Amino acid sequence: MPATTATAPGKCILIGEHAAVYARPAIAAPVTDVAVRATISARPNAPSGEIKIEAPAVGLDARLSELPDDQPIAWIIHLVQRAIQVKRLPAMQIKITSTIPPAAGLGSSAAVAVALIRALTQFLGYPLDEMTVCQLAYESEKRQHGSPSGVDNTVITYARPIYFVKGQPFEALNVAEPVHLLIADSGQPSSTAEVVADVRRGWEKSPAAFDAIFDAIGSLAQQARLCIENGPAKSLGALLNQNHQLLQQLGVSNPKLDRLVEAAIEAGALGGKLSGGGRGGNLIAQVEEAAADHVTNALLKTGAVRVISTTIHPNRNNLL
Ligand code: MEV
Repeated sequence: MPATTATAPGKCILIGEHAAVYARPAIAAPVTDVAVRATISARPNAPSGEIKIEAPAVGLDARLSELPDDQPIAWIIHLVQRAIQVKRLPAMQIKITSTIPPAAGLGSSAAVAVALIRALTQFLGYPLDEMTVCQLAYESEKRQHGSPSGVDNTVITYARPIYFVKGQPFEALNVAEPVHLLIADSGQPSSTAEVVADVRRGWEKSPAAFDAIFDAIGSLAQQARLCIENGPAKSLGALLNQNHQLLQQLGVSNPKLDRLVEAAIEAGALGGKLSGGGRGGNLIAQVEEAAADHVTNALLKTGAVRVISTTIHPNRNNLL
């Protein structure tokens, strides 16, 4: 059997994190500058069925038989086995490498799931359609994050900018003008599952107040969709700023993210906000191309540990 490799990109949420969990619309885009790569090769000389897994990013170098069933990578392998109804797996080597920083709001866990599901099913001769890959990755996200909206596994599987409402088919966005983004890492790891659980506690305590914030975020996502689809793209910046304020009200920002967003705006960004679960991880700043270097330097000076420059490109044929 030839070796099989599959990849999956990172993602950023432009508008709508947290509110997405409560079925308000969100807009997300793939970040192809970072990715997970899963490679599977046969081990013809290994004992029958022995599966070795190497994932240096999480310090994993073990046999599948040594891992508990609920270890995230082992869990995905068993999920795939059940989905394609293969009881015994051949001896193989699974190698997972990633340039997506973990616990940073860039979709690392969903990208591992998508890349591994694709590589494994292709290697075993049962390639799956995108919808099934996306559904299986959602199962993995649910196991790891409790109550995800499904936005991460969807944007990462389909690798295109999307308008997403939980429980509904996603819509691919028609991008009118380039949207230049800087994605800055605060250097503070953060658990999306914990932040989502905190927001849920807040919502349970004060449902009316939280629902009002979710509604306001959903309305920003609808306005952002119009900017992205019809232009002018630069009107998006003000919506990012408003979204950041609403995320502050939800209690999911922190002083460093706030300082970085402010620094980006002072240096000339059109707008900015935290992106993903919050309380650390990454933020995004929309910039005009000419200002990108200046804003990048300001972010690094203010304590960002890494800045990725990425562009959502116009695509008139993006509609499904
Ligand atoms: C995480 O990328 C986005 C959240 O809204 C969680 C989710 O939608 O599942 C925080």
